[in-house]
Amino acid sequence: MPEITFVTTAGEEITKEIPVGLSLMRGAVEAGINDILAECGGVASCGTCKIILDEANAGRIPPADAFEGSMLEDDPEGWRLSCQIIVDDTLEGLVVRLAPTEY
Ligand code: FES
Repeated sequence: MPEITFVTTAGEEITKEIPVGLSLMRGAVEAGINDILAECGGVASCGTCKIILDEANAGRIPPADAFEGSMLEDDPEGWRLSCQIIVDDTLEGLVVRLAPTEY
């Protein structure tokens, strides 16, 4: 299982082993990362699972498809829906920052 570091909205770094095959959102929620609300359950319709990737980490993940991209139109570069990213062993050491949820 790859170790992935989550940086909370408060700036705390939490590193967890996330099972391969889960979405990054599901893995984070099951690991007890509280900042991800994931209100839609992972079907890319709520936007409450957004993460921010710096350039180095963003390059390790396949680009957003058109559907995910439509949910990120108003967000800056590097923002992604964590429910649309599937964890695999290549993500060892990935660092993601949790985006603040806006209402
Ligand atoms: S969990 Fe709702 S968009 Fe990702």
